[in-house]
Amino acid sequence: MPLQDFISTLDSLQSGATKAFGSAQDADALEAARIEFLGAKSGRVKEAQKGLGTVAKEDKPAAGKRFNEVKVAVEAAFEAAQARVSASPAKKPGEPLFDPTLPGKKFRIGKLHPVSQTIEELKEIMGRLGFTVADGPEIEDEYHNFEALNIPLEHPARSASDNFYLAVAGKTTGEPLLLRSQTSTVQIRVMEKTKPPVRIISLGRVYRPDEADMTHYPMFHQMEGLMIDRHVTMAHLKSVLRMFATSYLGQDVHIRFRPSFFPFTEPSVEADMRWGDRWMEFGGAGMVDPNVLAAVGYDPEEFSGFAFGLGVERLCMRRHDLKDIRDLYTNDVRFLQQF
Ligand code: DAH
Repeated sequence: MPLQDFISTLDSLQSGATKAFGSAQDADALEAARIEFLGAKSGRVKEAQKGLGTVAKEDKPAAGKRFNEVKVAVEAAFEAAQARVSASPAKKPGEPLFDPTLPGKKFRIGKLHPVSQTIEELKEIMGRLGFTVADGPEIEDEYHNFEALNIPLEHPARSASDNFYLAVAGKTTGEPLLLRSQTSTVQIRVMEKTKPPVRIISLGRVYRPDEADMTHYPMFHQMEGLMIDRHVTMAHLKSVLRMFATSYLGQDVHIRFRPSFFPFTEPSVEADMRWGDRWMEFGGAGMVDPNVLAAVGYDPEEFSGFAFGLGVERLCMRRHDLKDIRDLYTNDVRFLQQF
């Protein structure tokens, strides 16, 4: 076919398609036009493509270029018509555009999980006290989860039944890895990287092979805090925790320390909050053990500091008066929607 003829076939194809698609008033008319022009077997575009094969070799580039332009234009005209037709379905004459008596469609807006909301709030409160947020991995080595935290090999906290040790495929040698059992790991990771002073919190998941019940779950969240500087004392620890507690639960919250033991703090305390009529244990704390400072290369003679680790779910449950931690992780929308 001479190039000129081919081009004029294309021209009439394009104007015909534009007109047909442009004037289609409903889905049926549009579908008929689609089959005529864009039908896969013998639509006019397909036919024109066959004609391309009959054009002389030296005219092929020009013919092919024009064919592609027309094809794109025809497809675009179809898509535009499709959008138009589906946006305004055909109405019978006299029918109102929409029925104003129909109830509206309510959009359900997603929201953060109550534990995430708690985490955001804790960051906010601690941020006001000058603590920045640090992060650490959930898969840890024994050095960061135990060793550097002054938890020796024979300590029961390291036993296989108290931790999720990981079997790594193909790995039979080297240090075992585990899902971290505490966010105290982040204390070490931060101190390894920074020189004192340090004032950080870290919020994240921890894992322990506990049977799930009303107050236990094999995964939960902790907020770790660490402050290291010259002359930091237990009084700073208590002030910070009190300010935290009153900011989170209100001015009438009391806090108390009970002596306790953690390998990474000396002295160690258990911190309780009273809100209303009962005391609730909200976490462990203490003055960072000199062995821990030495493990990260800090001079224990020059620097001291405090650390604390609080259960996030517990704070969240206390705030919302929740009874069962499992409700937080069952993903029942009816429950989660309330927050
Ligand atoms: N890591 C402890 C736990 O999971 C909590 C804790 C206690 C963290 C004392 C601390 C601390 O930073 O000083 O039970």
